[in-house]
Amino acid sequence: MKLRIFRYDGEGSHYDEFQVPHESGQTVLDALFYIQENLDDSLSFRYSCRGAVCGSCAMLINKVPRLACRTQVKSLVEGEDDAEIKHYPALDKGDEIPEGAVLIEPLPHLPVEKDLIVDQDKFFEYYRDIEPMLKTEGKVPEKEYEMSPKEVNELEEYTNCILCAACFGACPVDGENEDYRGPAALAKLYRFHIDPRDNEDRLELADHEDGWWACEFHTNCRKVCPKNVPPNIAIGKARSQLQKEDE
Ligand code: SF4
Ligand code: FES
Repeated sequence: MKLRIFRYDGEGSHYDEFQVPHESGQTVLDALFYIQENLDDSLSFRYSCRGAVCGSCAMLINKVPRLACRTQVKSLVEGEDDAEIKHYPALDKGDEIPEGAVLIEPLPHLPVEKDLIVDQDKFFEYYRDIEPMLKTEGKVPEKEYEMSPKEVNELEEYTNCILCAACFGACPVDGENEDYRGPAALAKLYRFHIDPRDNEDRLELADHEDGWWACEFHTNCRKVCPKNVPPNIAIGKARSQLQKEDE
């Protein structure tokens, strides 16, 4: 099995190809480890949990942002990969997918530090901007908080986010407007807005041209999200509520 991998050392970039023996159940992250341990120990990539929990290993795999630890090599090589996202300019920057091989590149829309590692500062700056913590002042009950099953279910759709930034790298708007807060931050903001324990009107925080109103509903965010978080739905609902408030 052949892997074609983007390399960057701080000065110049190129692609390297590696032959990796295929094993049953092998993920892209497993293949990267094989290369690092057996073929080229300078290959750099980010990971931690190896189980789709920490969000560290998002990268561009066959032109789709995905978690390396969750993507099976077999499905890519055998053409069973059914990920269909809307095309956007960042996908044209690198190589084309080689016949019968897997192409691995860094996540788009964030600066590359080395090989497959990107600088996530901007992504987390936008995340911190939405003040991602519960604000319960004046709303603390004497006993427990009461939430209906409907409220819990809706909240859980958004709390599942692992901050992998795959949606940020898949969003055409993030590629054009570097001030756009991006799908993950907006989904998180909406998550606090609908939390019945929170006491602030959160929607205002992104009520500007680089927040709720910048989204063009390409829906790549939802298609690539490894946790099925629907940022596009959150953004649509937030806009409707803001429009109603203005009427
Ligand atoms: S919304 Fe999904 S794709 Fe975006 S950061 Fe969260 S888990 Fe990753
Ligand atoms: S290594 Fe943690 S999500 Fe992939």
